[in-house]
Amino acid sequence: MSAPFDQSFATLPMSDRYKLLCGLVIPRPIALVTTLGPAGLVNAAPFSFFNVFSEDPPLVVLGLQSKPDGSLKDTATNIRETGCFVVNLVDASLAERMNICSIDFPSDVSEIDMAGLSTVPSSAIAAPRIAEAPVSLECRHYLTLEISRERRLCMGEVLHVHARPGIVDPARLYVDVDKYQPVARLFGNYYATLGEKFTFQRRTYAEWNESGATTPGSAGRSRAPS
Ligand SMILES: Cc1cc2nc3c(=O)[nH]c(=O)nc-3n(C[C@H](O)[C@H](O)[C@H](O)COP(=O)(O)O)c2cc1C
Repeated sequence: MSAPFDQSFATLPMSDRYKLLCGLVIPRPIALVTTLGPAGLVNAAPFSFFNVFSEDPPLVVLGLQSKPDGSLKDTATNIRETGCFVVNLVDASLAERMNICSIDFPSDVSEIDMAGLSTVPSSAIAAPRIAEAPVSLECRHYLTLEISRERRLCMGEVLHVHARPGIVDPARLYVDVDKYQPVARLFGNYYATLGEKFTFQRRTYAEWNESGATTPGSAGRSRAPS
């Protein structure tokens, strides 16, 4: 029988910390971020150090690392210069082209062209969104924390959302995940789509007491309606 893995981060080399954190904190959603570069060139790059943070203000966060030579990635430079960006979410049909966008093309080459993508103007900001994306969030730069020379935590305030027909029910704002089919990053070159879906009824403390539940495992679990 193998022993439990038990490791202090104090003595762990940076590359091993990266390996463990990225391998264990999964799955992560992928933001395919579009920004406007000099002369209006549209830049696109994927970021999986990404998530939504809050609804008031409505913030998303991006973890932007520097290039190996220590300079800023084009996405970070463009956000700083233009004050806006679009988070385009990635589904199965976009995944391969998202991967092309992660190639370190020179700054004067648009990943949009290289990946065979197209853009449409945004409603509230100058940076355009990706036409093929299932969902796009138009963001105004809110705040960037310069954690170190190599790492920035960039926050964007969502001003406008677009979704492909069928993904969001406009009356109730329910999301149909079967129509959406988001792709997530695992680690290295591994990705995943959603597996089995199920629901939990969330209860208050009063409801927990009323239910007479005696074991933690008695919470109801059921499959999501298909
Ligand atoms: C799925 C995926 C997720 C990535 N996530 C990040 C990330 O969270 N932060 C980061 O700095 N780079 C990340 N990268 C690498 C960037 O996409 C890559 O460095 C890209 O060339 C940056 O482009 P830019 O210079 O046009 O901004 C990721 C790459 C892939 C394929």
